[in-house]
Amino acid sequence: MAVFRYNTTMTVNEIRQKFINYFESKDHKLMPSSSLIPKDDPSVLITTAGMQQFKRWFSNEIKPAYKRTVTIQKCVRTNDIEEIGDETHLSFFEMLGNFSFGDYFKKEAIEWGLDFVEKELKVDRSRIWVSIFAGDDKTPRDNESEEIWKSLGITDIREFGRKDNFWGPTGTEGACGPTSEIYVDDVEVWNLVFNEYYMQPEGVLFPLDSKGVDTGAGLERVAATINNLKNVFETDELVQIITIIRELANKQDNKAEKIITDHLRGAVFMLADGIRPSNLDRGYTLRRVIRRAIRYGKLIGISEQNMCSKIADKIIDIYSSNYPNLKSEKSKIISELDIEENKFLNLIDQGLAELKKKSSINGKEAFELFSTKGMPFELTLEIAKEENIVVSDRAQAEFEAEFEKHQEVSKGGLEKKFAGGLENKDDPKIIRLHTAAHLMLAAMRELLGPQVHQKGSNITAERLRFDFSYPEKLTDEQKKEIEDWVNDKIEKKLNVYVVETDPKTAKEKGAEGEFDARYGDKTTVYSIGGDIDSKTAVSKEICGGPHVKNTAEVGHFRIKKEESSSAGVRRIKAVLE
Ligand code: SER
Repeated sequence: MAVFRYNTTMTVNEIRQKFINYFESKDHKLMPSSSLIPKDDPSVLITTAGMQQFKRWFSNEIKPAYKRTVTIQKCVRTNDIEEIGDETHLSFFEMLGNFSFGDYFKKEAIEWGLDFVEKELKVDRSRIWVSIFAGDDKTPRDNESEEIWKSLGITDIREFGRKDNFWGPTGTEGACGPTSEIYVDDVEVWNLVFNEYYMQPEGVLFPLDSKGVDTGAGLERVAATINNLKNVFETDELVQIITIIRELANKQDNKAEKIITDHLRGAVFMLADGIRPSNLDRGYTLRRVIRRAIRYGKLIGISEQNMCSKIADKIIDIYSSNYPNLKSEKSKIISELDIEENKFLNLIDQGLAELKKKSSINGKEAFELFSTKGMPFELTLEIAKEENIVVSDRAQAEFEAEFEKHQEVSKGGLEKKFAGGLENKDDPKIIRLHTAAHLMLAAMRELLGPQVHQKGSNITAERLRFDFSYPEKLTDEQKKEIEDWVNDKIEKKLNVYVVETDPKTAKEKGAEGEFDARYGDKTTVYSIGGDIDSKTAVSKEICGGPHVKNTAEVGHFRIKKEESSSAGVRRIKAVLE
C-alpha cells in the first residue's frame, strides 16, 4: 500500500515552537491549552477557540493575571462536520494564539502578525493579502487597521462584512470585535480579533473600557500553506495517522481516510479531557465523531476489531509530548473507544439482521435503519446487493430527503438526536419541553400570582402535562397571555444558567421549588435570562435538569388544554410546534 513521503520544509512541531518563541520574545506569558470542557461558562458546550479561557479577562470580570499571553489551544468545531474531508476543514485542531488584555492593540498585533508570517514562516510577500472589517450599521469600518497595513507596505487590502470580519462572542455573551485576517494564496491563515466590544445575551453591544487582542491561526492550515501542500492532511503529523489507516484498510479512499483521521484525533483529545460518549451535549459530539469514523472505516474495508483504539494508539504516540494527558489517560481512552465501538457495532449488527429479513427496501426504510441502528446508507446498499434485496429507484433521493428533514429538526442545539437511539431523558424534545415548563410556571406566577406552584409534571416527546395550584378555570385570555409571555422569552433568546448550591441559598435567592423535603445538601438551580444572583432572570427553579442552553432552542409554545386535576389543582397540556 502506498505511503506518503514527507514533503515538509517546516514540521508542525517546528511551527509550534517558533510561534511560542516569537511571542515569548515579545514578553508574552506561555499558558497551557485549557481543557476542551470549558470552565465556568455554561454558554458554551466545548472549547472552540483560544480566547475562551480568557473570556473573563477580556471583559475585566477577573483581573488578568498577565497582560500578554501566548497559547496553543486545542479546539473542537463540529458545526461544519459534513465538510471534513475537504482541503481545509478539521473538527479538531490546535490554534496558535497571542493575546493582549488592555495592553497592546491593533498596531503591534498587525506588525507582529506580518513579521511572523514573513520572517519566521518565510512566506514571500507576494503571496500575502489581508482583509479588514467593512463596517455596518452597528459598528464602524476599521480604518485604523487599514492604515496600519498600508504603513507596512501591504497594498492588497480587501474589506468584508460582519459574517467574515467580526468575531465573537463565543456562546451568546462576551467580548467581540472587528477582525483583520491574513491570507496566504487565498487561504485564510490568521485571524486577528480586536476585542473592543462586549455583547450582551440580547445582542446589545457596548464598548469595552479595556481593549484586547485575540488572534488565532489553525496550526495545520498554516503548515499546509507554507509547505505548499495540497491540504491539511498532508502535514507531517496527520500523514502518520493516515498511514496507519491505510495499513488497516483494504480500499483507498481519500475522503474516508481524512474523516477517520480527523475524527479519531478529536475523539482521543476529548476523551483525554474527560468527555465520555453519550447522547447529550459534548458527549454526543464525541459519540458522533467516533461513530462517523467507524462508518467510514467500514466503507474502506477495515475489518479489524477495535479499529478506533488501534488508530488512537498512534495518535497518542504522536501528540503526547505536547499533550502529556494523552499518555496519562491512555488506558481510559483506549477502553472507552473499545466500548463505544462495540456498542455501535452491535447496533449495526441488529440493523443488518433487520435488513436481511426484507425482500425490498426504500429510502425511508433505509433512513430508519440509519437513524435507529446507525446503518450507513452505503452499507445498506452493499448488503442489499449481496442479499438480492430490491432497492427502490428513488431510494437515494428519499434517503437524502429524510436526512435533510432530520437535520432541520436537529438544528439549533438539537443536533443530539442521531444514530444510536436516545435515552429518554436525553431526548431533545423532552429537554425543550422541560425548559418550556419552567417558562410556563414563571409566566403563571407572574400573571396569575405567586400562589401558583407546581404540583406535578409529566413530559413525553410529544407533550407536557403540568399540574399547578390554582382555584379556578383559566380563561381563554389568561391562556393566551401565558402563551405570549412564554413565546416572548423564547424569542428573546435568553441563556439558561445552572449552578449547584444548597437548598437554603437557592430559596433565599428566589428559586422556586416544589419538593423541598426531597432535597439533600446539594441541589441545582436552573435560571433563565440571568444567573442565580440576577435580579432580571425570568425564572429560577430548583431542578435536576437537563435543559436547553438558550431559550431560542425551545420552539413555539402552545397550550392545548386546561382542565381540573383535583381539588385546587389544575392541569395544562402544552406542546411545542
Ligand atoms: N477567536 C478567534 C478565532 O477563533 C481568533 O482567535 O478565530
